[in-house]
Amino acid sequence: MPIIHRSMARIVRHDRNHPYEVKAKDGETFRICACGLSRNKPFCDGSHRRTADELPGELYAYDEDGRVRVPAFYPG
Ligand code: FES
Repeated sequence: MPIIHRSMARIVRHDRNHPYEVKAKDGETFRICACGLSRNKPFCDGSHRRTADELPGELYAYDEDGRVRVPAFYPG
């Protein structure tokens, strides 16, 4: 009997467009990605700048090539 592996895609919504700043006991500050676009998760790599001109109330999907505005199928 063949083994069938199925994977599922997920849409994860991120509403924040700037990182969380977390201060460690030693005083060092870490910037944690909250936009979902960092290539160095969990740390912010500045990719949130791509979200700077998003319009309030609109939903966007990002990939390597850019972004598209998505019709709001999913209630907030
Ligand atoms: S908050 Fe995601 S890259 Fe900065």
